Formats: sequence, structure tokens, C-alpha cells
Amino acid sequence: MTCFSSADESAHYGFSVCMLLEQYRAQLRWEEEGVVELGTGDATAIADVVRSLPALRVRSFDISRPSVETARANIAVRGVSDRYTVELGDFFDQADSAGGPPVSTVISNPPYIPAPDPDIRMPELWGGVHGNDLMLQLLKAGYDTVIAAVASYSDPVETVRTAGDLGYRVANFLAMGLDYGPYSSEPKVRDHIRRLCDEGRGWAGDDGYMVAIALFTRIADVPGNRADQLLRSLQLSC
Ligand SMILES: C[S@@+](CC[C@H](N)C(=O)[O-])C[C@H]1O[C@@H](n2cnc3c(N)ncnc32)[C@H](O)[C@@H]1O
Repeated sequence: MTCFSSADESAHYGFSVCMLLEQYRAQLRWEEEGVVELGTGDATAIADVVRSLPALRVRSFDISRPSVETARANIAVRGVSDRYTVELGDFFDQADSAGGPPVSTVISNPPYIPAPDPDIRMPELWGGVHGNDLMLQLLKAGYDTVIAAVASYSDPVETVRTAGDLGYRVANFLAMGLDYGPYSSEPKVRDHIRRLCDEGRGWAGDDGYMVAIALFTRIADVPGNRADQLLRSLQLSC
């Protein structure tokens, strides 16, 4: 087992989470409650966010032991261990177990690699056959706000439709083009992505794809719904 490594994607995730938390600071209540995170990885991106937002506390979970060890070291180097904690285990088993006040915001760059089975380069990144299993699980977990990565090839239409059915609006998002990295360029995965795109379950180009970090919320004070804009921003073709 190794630790997830994709510098551009992690930077996009960290920058976007920071901007969205800042933009909706008053409505999201994260200064009082903190936030929880599914999937710490090496923690560098969010550790920098925690350092730049002194009121932010993050309780994070990762199923990968090497990731947790690397993350704790990176967090310590950045001097934010008191406000960014990492626990080994499945987010869905543990996030509600603290016994403290409820947290209404979850952040995540979730596993979204689509493949027929988890036998891929890093099995912890498997997102199910369509790539969006963990995203759908997050949306069904009952948080008021989900700030998470939506990949263009992981059935974003189903993700956005499910979010709408559950009462979420897409308040805002930041989209970025990414080159295929070591996980998505594995031949088994690339072939599967092509099949999904052919079936109308996503979009991808020959060299890359799009990832948007989107803020899904049920908080009435956060206005607007950019769901259609989000889907348009993810449309690429082979
Ligand atoms: C795409 S990586 C993102 C890592 C980091 N947030 C970043 O953007 O650099 C997804 C991470 O989620 C972890 N993960 C997968 N399933 C999980 C689960 N059920 N609970 C907690 N972490 C999980 C993986 O081990 C991996 O480190």
C-alpha cells in the first residue's frame, strides 16, 4: 500500500476548499463546529488550508495506514497538529463517533477511479464501477454541506441528480482540467473510462479530464443553484 500522490489534483482540492470555506464562512458555521474529511492522503493541501484559516479545525479519516503516517508527519511539520487530526479507519464507521457536537460540513477528494473491480494500482482509490460510489455515500450521510471533488468521467450526471433528489443545491464550484495521472492512465482503468463515456456516464478527453470541487448544500441561507453550470463545466469529449 502506498500514499495517494497527485500534486496538481491535491493543490486544486486544497485551494478550492479554502476559497469555498472563506466565501461561505458565515453560513457554513465551520468556525464553531469544525469540519470532517473523508480521505486524508498525505494531508499537505488541507494542512496548508488549516494554517491559513486560524479558526478551522479538521477531523480527518483515511483507510490507508501509510497515508495516515505520512499525513501526521506533514501536519506536524506545518505546526497544525492541534487543529488537523487524522484517524485510521473508514470514514463512514467513525466520523460520527466522537460524541461531540454535530458537524454539518464534510470535505473530501474522494476515491473516484472507476473500474470493474478494486484490483487497480491503488485499490483504496476505487470508486466502484461508475466511480461515484463514495460520493453518493457521502451525499446520503446526512451532512448539510458536502464540499467534494466531482470527476468528469465518474458519472457526474447521476451524482448531481442524486444530490438534487436529496435536497442539495450546487452553490458554487471550481473546475480544473487535469492530465491522466498514474491511477487513471492504468490501461484497465482507461479502457473502462472510455466505455463509461461511450455509455453517456461521463466525459473525458484523450489526454485528460475535468475535476470540479463543488459545494453541495441544504442550507437555505446559501443562495443559488449552479448544478447545470457544474455539468457543463465537466463536458469534454474524446
Ligand atoms: C483521492 S485520495 C485524496 C487524498 C487527499 N485528500 C488529497 O486530495 O491529496 C482519496 C483518499 O481516500 C482514502 N479513502 C478511501 N476510502 C476511504 C474511506 N472509506 N474512509 C476514509 N478514507 C478513505 C484513500 O486511502 C485516499 O488516501
